[in-house]
Amino acid sequence: MRRQNLPQPWHERVLLDDGRELLLRPIQPQDVEPLRSAFALLTPEEVRMRFLHPMRELTPELAARLCTLDPKREFALVAAEPQPPGQALVGAVARAALDPDGRKAEFAIIVSRLLAGQGLGRHLMKRLIRWARLKRLEALYGDVLEENHAMLTLADALGFRRTHVPGDHGVVRIVLELGPADSASRQGR
Ligand SMILES: CC(C)(COP(=O)(O)OP(=O)(O)OC[C@H]1O[C@@H](n2cnc3c(N)ncnc32)[C@H](O)[C@@H]1OP(=O)(O)O)[C@@H](O)C(=O)NCCC(=O)NCCS
Repeated sequence: MRRQNLPQPWHERVLLDDGRELLLRPIQPQDVEPLRSAFALLTPEEVRMRFLHPMRELTPELAARLCTLDPKREFALVAAEPQPPGQALVGAVARAALDPDGRKAEFAIIVSRLLAGQGLGRHLMKRLIRWARLKRLEALYGDVLEENHAMLTLADALGFRRTHVPGDHGVVRIVLELGPADSASRQGR
């Protein structure tokens, strides 16, 4: 994967090994329909890994909520075609939202199987970690099904530790404690 930073914050041009060119950028309200179309292409397994339970469709209401962020508390990047938001197909989404106490954030990520295995998941996770560090959060965490080897392996490599979610069978909470700023740049980049 090759990357090039663009002038706008959190914008990058990415060239995958399969030749696809993507734009990494913050999610936009115009992404609602592309997000719903992308959801329709997911396998039930991908949906379950991402949402931890089956879901038949991404309703317009939920899609609108996922695409319209409170910038103080939420952050979400998409990997999309280079076309303008609304026209571009969306192939991956990584998001994080602050807990009510403002000290930790929960993340979720999905990379379409058509784009998987080329480093996009790892890179998007690093971007979420960078956002969390810029927010000076104590930790970034996510809930992952225990059979989700891909995500658990990726999380291990990024330094997350696995914890138990009381009462939630089959789910592992992965937590990255965010240390002081100098180790930040090592982990987050
Ligand atoms: C987990 C997921 C985000 C990984 O995305 P990706 O773009 O394929 O990941 P990358 O190509 O960056 O791979 C990074 C590392 O993850 C691990 N990994 C990825 N796919 C894997 C697989 N199928 N089996 C085992 N490990 C895997 C590897 O350690 C890999 O590093 P390596 O390439 O050096 O071996 C993606 O598979 C996905 O979206 N899954 C469905 C949704 C989901 O599970 N979300 C997580 C819960 S919120």
